Amino acid sequence: MINEKAFRQLSYGLSIVTSRLMVDGQEAFNGQVANAIFQVSSKPPVIAASINKDNLTHKYINDSRLFNITVLTENIDMEKIGLFGYKSGHEVNKFENRNDPMGENGIPLVGEGDDVSALFECRVISSIDVHTHTVFMGEVTRAAHFDQAPMTYAHFHKVKGMKSPKNAPTYIDDSEPVIEKGESEGYVCDVCGFEYNASGNSNIAWNDLPHDWICPVCGAERDAFSLQ
Ligand SMILES: Cc1cc2nc3c(=O)[nH]c(=O)nc-3n(C[C@H](O)[C@H](O)[C@H](O)COP(=O)(O)O)c2cc1C
Repeated sequence: MINEKAFRQLSYGLSIVTSRLMVDGQEAFNGQVANAIFQVSSKPPVIAASINKDNLTHKYINDSRLFNITVLTENIDMEKIGLFGYKSGHEVNKFENRNDPMGENGIPLVGEGDDVSALFECRVISSIDVHTHTVFMGEVTRAAHFDQAPMTYAHFHKVKGMKSPKNAPTYIDDSEPVIEKGESEGYVCDVCGFEYNASGNSNIAWNDLPHDWICPVCGAERDAFSLQ
């Protein structure tokens, strides 16, 4: 028997992985949220990132053989998580109108100031095919540390009340819910777990929201919300 709740006891941090693709001699950038990132060796330092094969970031890492990691803090703006974790570069240009710092390897890093706990620049030295995902092994070519605690995956779930999307390796189909939520009565986004409460939204009742209102985190339509 596999008890899915057991997987919630594995601990992770939350990062944004970025990479590059050359299209007709022009650089294009993309990135995604990832929690499945861990250090594999120290001399030389190698970090592994498990990336879903359907993600655009996967294609970019395969092409450039480079990826950067921005380790996020609890101060990260949820809109940034929405853009990089719940939307795909297959549908939106995530780097349009952004002014992110550039890594020394020519790949951008997402986040600055109190959003960021650490930065890594990596070049792929090998990869492992694992069903839906590829685990890319990246030798670290630059690392920077900031004196700010990283956000844990547990904090993301329990405090921010968010869910992982389908392409995250930690995705759990919550027809059997495993996320403990508060008693608050509100509408919850079935895609990302964002809770709509009128009290936190200028006292605008759910029924008074415009029909084209969308989830401020992941962009899901109103139909994707259910009453908690
Ligand atoms: C909290 C969280 C953790 C995630 N972890 C991973 C991960 O470790 N690996 C992965 O492939 N996708 C992960 N995802 C899902 C991707 O971020 C998501 O599918 C994204 O839309 C892919 O974007 P892209 O197609 O532009 O690359 C995670 C998402 C969230 C919100």
